[in-house]
Parts: sequence; structure tokens; C-alpha cells
Amino acid sequence: MNIVIAGGYGQLGTALGLTSPTVAHRDRIARLGRSSLDITDPVSVRAMIETEQPDLIINAAAYTAVDRAEAADQRTIARAVNAEGAANLATAAAKARVPLIHVSTDYVYGDNTDGVSVHHEAPYCTVYQQSAQASQTPLPIDAPAHPRSVYGSTKLAGDYAVQDAFENIDVPCAIVRTSWVYSGAALPEHRDFVSTMMRLERQSRGNDGPAARVVNDQWGSPTNVFDLARGLWELSGVASAAVCFPEMLAPGGVVHCVGEGACTWWDVACRVFTASGGDPGRVVPVPSQEYPTPAERPSWSVLDNSSWLALGLTPLPAWQDGVDRAVGGVGV
Ligand SMILES: NC(=O)c1ccc[n+]([C@@H]2O[C@H](COP(=O)([O-])OP(=O)(O)OC[C@H]3O[C@@H](n4cnc5c(N)ncnc54)[C@H](OP(=O)(O)O)[C@@H]3O)[C@@H](O)[C@H]2O)c1
Repeated sequence: MNIVIAGGYGQLGTALGLTSPTVAHRDRIARLGRSSLDITDPVSVRAMIETEQPDLIINAAAYTAVDRAEAADQRTIARAVNAEGAANLATAAAKARVPLIHVSTDYVYGDNTDGVSVHHEAPYCTVYQQSAQASQTPLPIDAPAHPRSVYGSTKLAGDYAVQDAFENIDVPCAIVRTSWVYSGAALPEHRDFVSTMMRLERQSRGNDGPAARVVNDQWGSPTNVFDLARGLWELSGVASAAVCFPEMLAPGGVVHCVGEGACTWWDVACRVFTASGGDPGRVVPVPSQEYPTPAERPSWSVLDNSSWLALGLTPLPAWQDGVDRAVGGVGV
């Protein structure tokens, strides 16, 4: 079996390589970086399909710099990779009848706050935490998509392009939306929120006072990249020596694959400090207004994983467990 991973040297591409269940000699996993497969170039994509003759393509390639994508000179690049690149890959895969797993993001949904106040008054954290938890439910796969950022809207355009390409053809294709992906010390060459918090905890040792100010009004489903990678392999069916997506998943169907549970970035930071042997009390919760970023991020971005469970797939471990493993450098 030949499996191609586009974006093969990114955070997820690397974890997919390390968790690959295909150990038979006849199997070949080609992790392709941008220099060997530039998904924005349709010629490069078609050549890859001709050379590799893949039985499965996993698209882990993306422009993921959420804030940088807002800059005028970066928008076109983000669109070229996330929308046009996804379209190139899906069109070529569909034409060659190659199954595709396309990875996408919670940020396609944008804000679905529906009446929940996002204005904060001191002591806003506790008040907001309770009200948000009480009134919000995890977003299902058919939640309205209102992306608020260039990253989110270009990824949504990519998802639609993948669906268009696989419409009316009987070839497995899944759009897997995940969120808040991290690897911490397990993939030290990649920077993510967990590794940033680990660095802040280390740097603050021996000092007094706050070590980090972290937003506490954006909710999500943090996902350990190794749990995500194992989930994608399970979805693909390749562990049983064939590409065999769950039958219930229509081509181009969306499924959510996220760590169990919901929390804010502040919760994640506190967990990182605790798991690193530091004092979580040194992580100061702040509202988003006090931590402005170029890209607007949704306040409620918790994904409902029932679509995953309905396919008979194994639920991912709880986010707390994933963070502890990432801090401990546990990957595979
Ligand atoms: N990270 C998160 O928090 C998060 C959350 C939700 C969803 N996701 C989704 O999960 C997937 C994997 O993300 P990740 O965390 O692994 O991101 P990542 O570490 O940034 O990896 C993305 C990879 O795509 C490559 N790439 C960029 N442009 C390309 C092009 N034109 N052709 C081929 N490859 C290209 C990048 O290569 P270069 O390094 O050379 O640019 C990089 O290796 C993406 O679809 C992302 O949208 C991520």
C-alpha cells in the first residue's frame, strides 16, 4: 500500500509518520514536504499521483499561521495553500480515484455564541466560565460556519472544494476538523501553545510574580497531535491492511476529531505549569480584549465529537491527559 502525506514535515505530518500502523514491507509511506509536493502547484500534485500511485492521501499541508495570515501580503498565500491547494489535491485525487483524508479546523465555525455575552466584568473569569459552560453546547458538524479570520475562511473554502471534487463519486473522502493541536516536548522542533507555556514556566523559575497572562474567555477542545494522528489512521482503516473508511461516512463527509473535554487557553496553561512542576497560580487569566491579536478567534470553539463516535471510532483521550503527555515528551 502506498500512502502519501502532504505537509509531511509539519506537526501533524511528523506525528502521522511516527504513529503509522503500516509495518508490512510492501507498505510505503511517503511524507512529502513542500519542496517535493507543493500543493499550490497542480502540476506538482498530478506528478505526485503519477509517481507515487497512492492508495491513500492525507492532506496535512496548510498555512497555519493564524495571525500572520491577516497581513495584506499573506492573505493570498494563505488562500493559495488552504483553498486552492486543497482543491488541487482533491481534484487530482478524485480524478485518479484515490481516497483522501483532508484535515481542517474548528476555526471554520467562527463564533457561534448565540446570545452568550462575551463582555467581561471583574471578576470576569469565574462569572464567564460558569455562564458559558451553562449555555453553550459543543458544535456539531452541521453548525453554521462563520469564519472570522483569513485562516478560518480559507480553510472553509478548502473544505468546500474537497466536497465539490468528491461529489457524486464513490471514493472515500473525509474532512476531519480538529482543534487546538499541540505536541509540546514530544516534537520539540515544532512550536505550539504547550511548548510556549513550558518555556514561560522554565524562564520564570526563581522569579516572583506572574509568569504568563493567558486568555480565559476562548473555549476549545485541545487535541494532542499524536492522538489525532492515531485517530486518522484508525479512520483510514489501513491498520487492517486496506484503505477502508467507515461505510457510514459519505464521500466528503465532515467528522470531528478532538481531545475529550472543553477548556480555555488559561486552563491549558495552568495544566502545563502543573505538569512541569510549576505553580499554576502564576498564570494570570485575562479577557481577550487585554490580549489583542491580528486574527479574531472564536470565544466558543468546542467541537462535538459525536460524529466520530457514530462511526465506531475510538474517542480521543481527555485533553488533560494529552497535555500531561506532551509536557512529559511522550509521543508514540
Ligand atoms: N495546529 C493547530 O492548532 C491546528 C488546529 C486545527 C486544525 N489544524 C489543521 O491541522 C493540519 C495540520 O496542521 P499542523 O499543526 O501540522 O500545521 P503545521 O505544523 O504548520 O504543518 C503544516 C505543513 O504544511 C506545509 N505547507 C505549507 N504550504 C504548503 C504547500 N504549498 N505545499 C505543501 N505543503 C505546505 C508546511 O510546510 P512549511 O513548514 O514548509 O511551510 C508545514 O509543514 C492543518 O490542516 C491545520 O489547518 C491545526
